[in-house]
Amino acid sequence: MMAWVLEVNGQTATTVKLQETLEDLVSLDRLVRQVHWNARGTATYSLHELTGEFHADLDSQQDIFAEQLSILGVDPVVSFEKLTQNVHAVPNANQKHMRKAGIDLLIKHYQQMINQVKERMKGIDDLVVEDHFIGLRAMLELQQWKLKLEQEI
Ligand SMILES: [Fe+2]
Repeated sequence: MMAWVLEVNGQTATTVKLQETLEDLVSLDRLVRQVHWNARGTATYSLHELTGEFHADLDSQQDIFAEQLSILGVDPVVSFEKLTQNVHAVPNANQKHMRKAGIDLLIKHYQQMINQVKERMKGIDDLVVEDHFIGLRAMLELQQWKLKLEQEI
C-alpha cells in the first residue's frame, strides 16, 4: 500500500485518480450537453429530456470530485482541452436517423468512462474516496442503461 502515500509533484496516486476522473466527467458532460442541444426535433424530445436529466447528475458528480480534491489539498483544475475534446464529434440528432447516432456515441463514451472508473477504483485505501467512485460508477451505469432503453424507442 506504500504506493498510495508516495507523492508525485505534490499529488498522491489517489488525487491523480480524482483529477483524471474530474476531467473525464467534464468531458462527458460536454458531450451529453451537446447531444441535449442537438436533440430538438419532435422525434428526439425524449432524448432531449433524458440528456437534460443526465447533465444535472453529471454536474453534481463534478462538484463531489472537485471538492474532494480540495479536501485533500489539491486545486481542482480542468484544462480547456478537456472541455472541448468531444464536442466536434457529436452528430446533429435533429432527425430520427441521427438520433440513433447520438445515442450510440453516448453509450460508447459511457462505456469508456465506466471502464476507467472500475480501473481507478482498484487499490484506493481511503473509504470516502472509494465511496465517491462507487457512487459515480452507479450513476454512470444507470445513465448508460437508460440510454440503452432509449435506443429501443
Ligand atoms: Fe435544456
